[in-house]
Amino acid sequence: MAGDILVTNIGELSTPIGTSARKGAQMKELRVVEDAAILVKDGVIVFAGPGADVPWEEADGVPVLSAAGRAALPGFVDSHTHFVFAGYRDDEFMWRTQGVPYMEIHNRGGGIRRSMEATRAASLEELVELGERRLWTMLSMGVTTVEGKSGYGLDLQTELRQLEAMSILAERTPTAVVPTYLGPHATPPEFEGRSSDYLDYVIEEVLPSVRAQGFARFCDVFCEKGVFDLEESRRYLQAAASLGFPLKLHADEIEPLGGAGLAAQMRAVSADHLLKASPQDIAAMASAGVVATCLPLTAFALREPYADARLMIDSGCAVALASDLNPGSCYSQSIPLIIALGVLYMRLSLEEVLTALTLNGAAALGLADRLGSLEPGKEGDIVLLEANSSRFLAYHAGMNVVSTVVKGGEIAYRA
Ligand code: NIG
Ligand code: FE
Repeated sequence: MAGDILVTNIGELSTPIGTSARKGAQMKELRVVEDAAILVKDGVIVFAGPGADVPWEEADGVPVLSAAGRAALPGFVDSHTHFVFAGYRDDEFMWRTQGVPYMEIHNRGGGIRRSMEATRAASLEELVELGERRLWTMLSMGVTTVEGKSGYGLDLQTELRQLEAMSILAERTPTAVVPTYLGPHATPPEFEGRSSDYLDYVIEEVLPSVRAQGFARFCDVFCEKGVFDLEESRRYLQAAASLGFPLKLHADEIEPLGGAGLAAQMRAVSADHLLKASPQDIAAMASAGVVATCLPLTAFALREPYADARLMIDSGCAVALASDLNPGSCYSQSIPLIIALGVLYMRLSLEEVLTALTLNGAAALGLADRLGSLEPGKEGDIVLLEANSSRFLAYHAGMNVVSTVVKGGEIAYRA
């Protein structure tokens, strides 16, 4: 979207500043302006600051949206989701509430493989419709950019179909969609017990086609005990990097395998989950500039201790927060719940949480030069709250306080 808009009467504008990830102590530094305005032209911000300083000659003839004293923030970036899938696993969720571990369900052939069966059976149009509904829900909570992973096909055709569904949704909805290829998400039944042979297939047959199709912007792997070990993950990531893909990893989610350290060695753009990441690997991620992406809704839904985002920030990492929306470990894309958990249970300040959901989320997608803050040169993605302060995002716990969402200078959603 590429519109013109002048947003006036903003009671409080809060935004991180910069065109790269904010690390460590920088994460709490927000620019806060009262009585602010934002001018967007051709989808790009040309002014964001005190209302008294609006460049009126440039604003001439631009449609005005009065925020009527409400708070404004950059559009949220959800940098880790699996939002294109068919079928649900509500029965598995209920088993987990009774104490059955996530990996036990996975090892019994449930979990990701069940979603694979339903996703293989779904047409392109069905996947697009399912994904579209989820994106509109996210937009209503202020999410203007969404990363989405394949990984529920586990065969060439279906993986390409998931990626194509995302590229269609990028055109069909206001949301910016960033597709990621996650072939090594599980070993499919046709390669039962032969994860290494499946990886050969992924590397020799699927990766080149994913590259040729041209939709995927990252490659990711579920590096986990009983799924793909450290050496298998390294082999796949090297193959992906040699085709020019930037890398992501599902790392140290359930067992402390050392995936975060591998992410640092491979100079991955992000390592995600990190519930069991070691302090040494966290330090390595900080030095290597790997964005540490924490997914509190998954820890919440699995009843696991939250990733130590406080230690990560104090160790100098750039932390991002994302939903991990998926049909298994976390069927939620609730931004309000992420904010509540971040502030109340992960010991993050609201400022750190907001940086993690905006500029650092954009950095986790290699898009920090274009997205994630309200300043000239960035895309005009603006969230207006129904309240006059960003504090209400945490204070009105678990509730959606978004009133209006602007994407690329066009009004994309109104409550
Ligand atoms: O990020 N951990 C691996 N993948 C997903 C869960 C996928 C599923 O259970 O369907 C995650 O949590
Ligand atoms: Fe995930």
